[in-house]
Amino acid sequence: MSAAERPRHLLDFAAWPRERIEALLETTEVMAQVLQRPVKRVPALQGFTVATLFFEDSTRTRLSFERAARAQSADVLPFAKGGSSLSKGESLRDTVETLSELQADLFVVRHPAAGAAHQVARWTDAAVVNAGDGRRAHPTQALLDAYAYRARTGRPFPETRLAIVGDVAHSRVARSAAEAFAALGAEVILSGPPTLLPRELAELPGVTVEPDLDRALDGAHAVMALRLQRERMASFRLASLEGYAARYRIDEARLRACYDEVVVLHPGPMNRDVELASDVADGPRSLVRAQVAAGVPVRMAVLYHLLVGKGER
Ligand code: CP
Repeated sequence: MSAAERPRHLLDFAAWPRERIEALLETTEVMAQVLQRPVKRVPALQGFTVATLFFEDSTRTRLSFERAARAQSADVLPFAKGGSSLSKGESLRDTVETLSELQADLFVVRHPAAGAAHQVARWTDAAVVNAGDGRRAHPTQALLDAYAYRARTGRPFPETRLAIVGDVAHSRVARSAAEAFAALGAEVILSGPPTLLPRELAELPGVTVEPDLDRALDGAHAVMALRLQRERMASFRLASLEGYAARYRIDEARLRACYDEVVVLHPGPMNRDVELASDVADGPRSLVRAQVAAGVPVRMAVLYHLLVGKGER
């Protein structure tokens, strides 16, 4: 791939084949070592400015991108919907152009509308990272999931069976995780209540849709529980939370169908004891805290690849 063909943005995995995902995971290893040093800062992105453009709430993604930028000595322009001139009617485009004039080299964009990050990329010469657009994509979450999984288990992706369980319909995490794990060679099974399980996702290469949860969990090496996204449900598609938990909550009893040393992921924030039992979330199988920790080196790697790369820009 020539430099001209290499993507400048990380919007989804369409332009990121397996080799590029693997390269990011390799760079993440280096960044993780930086974060083990007494002085957790390198000058790699000195002189660059990263704008975090968040139109939807976030704890993990926003803070870890800002930490990842500062750990590489970049300047950060933190933009949040509250307290901005959006309240005076300023448009998304004018907001992007304003931050571009403030010399943003890279935008990290979270927005409730699918496609928002792609739109931002059309309005700026800066690099753009999608930090979650509606139910469409959340690629850096998928990268940190993959990194945390491999760091804990050491299991090769082509020997991995990953079951993703829950509110698949509203989950950008599910789409991006399915694409990334499948691209790395894993077998991915999506399961959940029929009203929250779009059958068309079976068209993704390497991905199966399995409404029967016991079959989905059978022999799984990793199980990812998804948050019920009630804020994205136009009409509540479940009879009750209790009914959902009784049928789909990931707990120790359900995990008996899986591989003995199965690990459990959840992207956060959790509805504890609805999609994931608290004792599992806090127990030895859980990668939940490791996923949060992986967010910083993964996002350091993404910023580095897009802003400096290896002669890629
Ligand atoms: N997983 C995730 O995107 O969390 P935040 O919404 O807190 O960023």
